[in-house]
Amino acid sequence: MIPCIAGRTDNEAGANVLSQTATLGSVVPAAWSFMLAARARGIGTAWTTLHLMHEKAIADLLGIPYDDFMQVALIPMAYTKGTNFKPAYRPPVETVMHVDAW
Ligand SMILES: Cc1cc2nc3c(=O)[nH]c(=O)nc-3n(C[C@H](O)[C@H](O)[C@H](O)COP(=O)(O)O)c2cc1C
Repeated sequence: MIPCIAGRTDNEAGANVLSQTATLGSVVPAAWSFMLAARARGIGTAWTTLHLMHEKAIADLLGIPYDDFMQVALIPMAYTKGTNFKPAYRPPVETVMHVDAW
């Protein structure tokens, strides 16, 4: 599944952090919700972006209108072999979260 968003952040005149994050923030939560919904149905997913090195070629292959729509990820999907998962490593929360000030 390739989530796409109307517009591009790489050729906007005057592109800035606000427009970039607003554009990505308008599609990433939906894609994440899709991943959670898939998980609830026994389908595993992973967020990947490396294919974007060849975004134009993929757009041409799939008929995605490259000038008007930006691909933001490529999410492979497959039924998992069982559900015996374990938590992924995450650094301790106090090393990445700040309260009231950085
Ligand atoms: C922004 C982003 C881009 C990623 N791109 C790729 C990718 O192109 N190929 C890949 O194998 N994993 C990629 N990953 C990693 C996997 O989606 C996944 O996060 C990783 O397997 C770790 O799994 P976990 O989040 O359950 O610990 C990316 C992760 C993030 C956050």
